[in-house]
Amino acid sequence: MRNIVAGNWKSNKLMNEAREFTDAFLPALDELNGTTEVYIAPPAPYLAALTPSASGRLQWASQQCSAHGAGAYTGEFTAEMVRSAGAQGVLIGHSERREGFGESEEAVRAKVQHALKAGLRVFLCCGESLEQREAGQPERVIFAQLESALDGVSDTSDLVIAYEPIWAIGTGRTASSEQAQDMHQSIRGWLAERFGAPVAAGIPILYGGSCKPSNAEELFSQPDVNGGLIGGASLNVEDFLELVRIADAVSAS
Ligand code: PGA
Repeated sequence: MRNIVAGNWKSNKLMNEAREFTDAFLPALDELNGTTEVYIAPPAPYLAALTPSASGRLQWASQQCSAHGAGAYTGEFTAEMVRSAGAQGVLIGHSERREGFGESEEAVRAKVQHALKAGLRVFLCCGESLEQREAGQPERVIFAQLESALDGVSDTSDLVIAYEPIWAIGTGRTASSEQAQDMHQSIRGWLAERFGAPVAAGIPILYGGSCKPSNAEELFSQPDVNGGLIGGASLNVEDFLELVRIADAVSAS
C-alpha cells in the first residue's frame, strides 16, 4: 500500500497565500519522484481555483461536506459539489468539527455515505480525548466512532482512516510511535472483523496530531501507520515537502 500524506490547512491562508504555497510546492513535489500520495485540504472557497493546478501526485480534498444532498440548506455544500469543483477527497468527522460545530455521529455517517456516493476519497477521522484515554480502553471510543460512521458501508475502496488523538492535535504533544502503532493495529483488527482481513490490510490508516518532520520518520515507520494527516506542518512548504520525502523514504526502505 502506498503511503499518504494529507495536509489539513484548517481556517488558514488567504487566497494569495494559498497560491504562493502551490506555486512553490508543486514544482518541488514533481522533483521528488516518490510514491507517496499527497493531498491538500484548503479552505473550501479556494477549491475550484486550486484544483486545476494538479501535479502527478497532488490531489485536493475538502475539509468537510454537507450531511445532505442538494436543496434548501443555506451555507452548506454537498459532496457532489466538492467533486464537481475538482476535488478528489474529503475529510469527515474531524474532532474540531465534532466538538466545535456539534457534528453528531449521525451527521458523520450521512456525510460518509454522501461522499462515497459522490466518488470522493473519504478521510474518516476518529480520536479520543485525554479524559477518555485516561479512563482506560481508548480503543472502545474509536471502535464506537468507526462502527457508527461506517454503518451501511460495504465498499471500502475509497476509505482512509485518520487516527487523531484529540490531546495531540495542535498541542505539540504527539502520540508516541508505540501509542500510535498500538491504536492503528487495533483499528486494523476492527476493520478486519468488519470487512475481512484482506480488505483491512489495504485500508490506509493515517496518524494525525502534531506530526512534523522531527517525529514523522518514527511514526511512519510503524507497520500499521500508512502516513499522516498534517495540520500545522502542512502550512509551510518546506515542512510539508519534508514530510512527503520522509513518507517516500520509509516506503522505499
Ligand atoms: P496538527 O493537526 O498537525 O496541527 O496537530 C492535525 C489535524 O488536526 O488534522
